[in-house]
Amino acid sequence: MCGIVGFTGIQQAAPILLEGLSRLEYRGYDSAGIAVRDGESDVKTVKAKGRLKELAEKTDFGKAVKGTCGIGHTRWATHGEPSELNAHPHSSDDGAVTGVHNGIIENYKELKEKLIKKGYSFRSATDTEVAIKLVDYYYKKTGSDPVDAIHKTMLHVRGSYALCIMFKDRPGEIWTARKDSPMIIGLTENDTYVASDVPAILKYTRTVYYIDNLEFACLTPGKATFYNIDSEEIEKQPVTIEWDTEAAEKGGYEHFMLKEIHEQPKAVRDTLASLVKDGRIDLSQAGLSEDEIKNISQIYIVACGSAWHVGMCAQYVFEDLARIPVRVELASEFRYRNPILDKNGLVIIVSQSGETADSLAALRESKAQGIKTLGIVNVVGSSIAREADSVIYTLAGPEIAVATTKAYSAQLVVSYAIAVEFAKVRGEIDEEKYSALIADLDTIPEKIEKILSDKERIQWFANKFAGAKDIFFIGRGIDYAICLEGSLKMKEISYIHSEAYAAGELKHGTISLIEDGILVIGVLTQQELYEKTVSNLVEVKARGAYLMGLTSYGHYEIEDTVDFTIYVPKIDEHFAASLAVIPLQLMGYYVSVGRGLDVDKPRNLAKSVTVE
Ligand code: AGP
Repeated sequence: MCGIVGFTGIQQAAPILLEGLSRLEYRGYDSAGIAVRDGESDVKTVKAKGRLKELAEKTDFGKAVKGTCGIGHTRWATHGEPSELNAHPHSSDDGAVTGVHNGIIENYKELKEKLIKKGYSFRSATDTEVAIKLVDYYYKKTGSDPVDAIHKTMLHVRGSYALCIMFKDRPGEIWTARKDSPMIIGLTENDTYVASDVPAILKYTRTVYYIDNLEFACLTPGKATFYNIDSEEIEKQPVTIEWDTEAAEKGGYEHFMLKEIHEQPKAVRDTLASLVKDGRIDLSQAGLSEDEIKNISQIYIVACGSAWHVGMCAQYVFEDLARIPVRVELASEFRYRNPILDKNGLVIIVSQSGETADSLAALRESKAQGIKTLGIVNVVGSSIAREADSVIYTLAGPEIAVATTKAYSAQLVVSYAIAVEFAKVRGEIDEEKYSALIADLDTIPEKIEKILSDKERIQWFANKFAGAKDIFFIGRGIDYAICLEGSLKMKEISYIHSEAYAAGELKHGTISLIEDGILVIGVLTQQELYEKTVSNLVEVKARGAYLMGLTSYGHYEIEDTVDFTIYVPKIDEHFAASLAVIPLQLMGYYVSVGRGLDVDKPRNLAKSVTVE
């Protein structure tokens, strides 16, 4: 979604804004703009449609725009087409207020009508212009009091927003406010930064403040003053960001996605190390007592996209090991269907960014119903991490590529650890099984390393199918959940139509789509379901499909059925997704590269989906 960067200090602002925005490119955007002022001078605004380099070229990489205070924005269109006119920043008619916004103002039509009646006119089709002019309206109405103007705007606006605003008569100041869209502030002695995400400012500072929902702040060089929604000044403690800029760089890899695929052994190892101590799983972060674990009647796993796929895998593991019924819910559906939740249930929200609007709303709905909530989150201090009753962090580090890989893998192992511990506490597995499962969990990183060391075969095969029009993934049980993720990886970055199907469902419709030469990838890691899926592969082969099999070492007879095979190391079958997903991530990656596409920033997609 949109990215925001602001700077006020003693350095030239524009190059810092452009640099920061480039670090937020992964969020997805279709136009960009900056507004900078030099002391008391008028604000200079420059915008460009398309990639950030258009804006950089227009401004001589920022050097042509003088001034030490400014705001910048990358826009992912919601209201109004991607165009220079709709790009941010937007200003009030007389230039008194200039601002950028991330989020959606739900009541913008109603506010716009009100402002038109007050004499305002509108140039763009955006909800943002309405928000900026609303601030201007209240600023003038309150006798140029920024605290009151922002407070009143926040009371009248419905929806989500992270706003950065400059007032013409307040040089050196940036005002920022947020609700349901992320925003962080970084300080050094003389400079102040504000951004949608940490990578944008990590080059300059690691001292970061999180603004909570319905709070706002005034930023001046080297200082931030925070206010709550009642306009009272509040104190905040800074957080030190532990990871370094290198973690947010490509480090010699051609793309972030490939780098992040290779970081999976470390992401999994670090995450497991935070949960497994002296051979036992320690879920103290989850804040659940043994009695509470024993009394859980139902687990609801709520998430979006790949995080939902983690839930789909986890469902099988929880139900089989811990014998707790699990429902896996798409957050966007869950939040609007008036869910009936068991009061002894546990809601687990899975999210890399911790800012996904639908997942956050689902969390709030669950809390409103009084159900215990647990977040599995990657971004420290994000909204879901702060609002859930407890949180288990995935230690994947910053994930930049839009297509998730290492966060997905880290989320998987957190869900395994919870399932194994719940199984033990509830008496579903004995001490021996418990230790064996933990020992197997420990082998995941090295097994992923082994798969990665043989990636050239997958690259070769991916190149062969880079021109495919349709690809199908089939599997049963956990293998079906793996297929869902493999298929998403393929379509989101290669733009090839692809579907994941529960292998037993093929005959109920999809098989009519199979024709000569179509690639069908069968995932077969579950012994009990192996023969069944082989039969389904034979059925599509008879209709002309080209088959790839993905199974564990030892199942060499698969080669009698399929045209190409990828083997992964053996592991307890509950954890098979952690290994089988790796070749599928590589397939998606290499097909995208083979097609010459923008792997890290696929069209129309955003890393963090902060609007619904
Ligand atoms: C996966 O590659 C996607 N980028 C997407 O499906 C993602 O998993 C989803 O938007 C959820 O994001 P979150 O984990 O940040 O909540």
